[in-house]
Amino acid sequence: MKTHIELKNDSQICQMRKAGLAVAAIHEAIADALRPGVTTKDMDDVAASVLEAHGARSNFLGYYGYPAHICVSVNEEIVHGIPGSRVLEPGDIVSFDCGAVIDGWHGDACFTAVLPGGDQDRHAQREELSARTREAMWRGIAALATGSRVGDVGRAIDDYVESLEEPVPGIVEEYVGHGIGTAMHMDPDVPNYRTRSRGEKLCPGMVLCVEPMLTAGNQENVTREDEWTVVTLDGSDACHWEHEVAIHEGGIWVLTARDGGMAGLAPFGITPVPLNED
Ligand code: MF3
Ligand code: CO
Repeated sequence: MKTHIELKNDSQICQMRKAGLAVAAIHEAIADALRPGVTTKDMDDVAASVLEAHGARSNFLGYYGYPAHICVSVNEEIVHGIPGSRVLEPGDIVSFDCGAVIDGWHGDACFTAVLPGGDQDRHAQREELSARTREAMWRGIAALATGSRVGDVGRAIDDYVESLEEPVPGIVEEYVGHGIGTAMHMDPDVPNYRTRSRGEKLCPGMVLCVEPMLTAGNQENVTREDEWTVVTLDGSDACHWEHEVAIHEGGIWVLTARDGGMAGLAPFGITPVPLNED
């Protein structure tokens, strides 16, 4: 299969950083407003106002007819949950997948939060699932610096998940990371699991989204009748973390992380290399 990968020069990567920082700002504003009692639509409104303040538009709104600015997926919902009147409750595990377009350049990232309260054991299990998914994401991102092929990302994530103690989470296979740039979803695919093919060679100019989705139980999933919301078949909890990462001559740079990935990559002995933003 022939893939065409859009390579960015340093100044285009700096343009993409603007969209990345808008996404980071949406995450910060949602984390700030998030509490039991808010609706998922309230969080969509927060995202819409941050987008407006940044002179950005949502890349999700209208994407194949998608009806909101962000995706909010609660508990057994894995991905593509549509914000609405649902009230978030103590102990819910919720992912916020957010995007922004500025001057034609796309940003895309997702974080998960566990709301305070609820059953203590369940809360701890959900925090663990989120911590593990986040760790899987950073291992995948680290592989962009230490590896040589796109497939090294999925191998790093898969190796990590397999090394975990029971209950070993499931890795969702139907949804994968992707290239990003002048469109939200571009070549290449970035699977979160080990694949037979090693994938494309990693090279400067690539910007890739690394976005593992893990499940507390089996990874099998179905799409609800709204034709968007993907849920676990067994009803187990799910979690999703995502960052967007540029590879350039000097190193890697996490465009959707305010610190460029400094804290997340430190445990792997990797220092992200920002480009000059002016
Ligand atoms: N942001 C998602 C991703 O990580 C895609 C959202 S699709 C939409 O790839 F239709 F919901 F916008
Ligand atoms: Co994405």
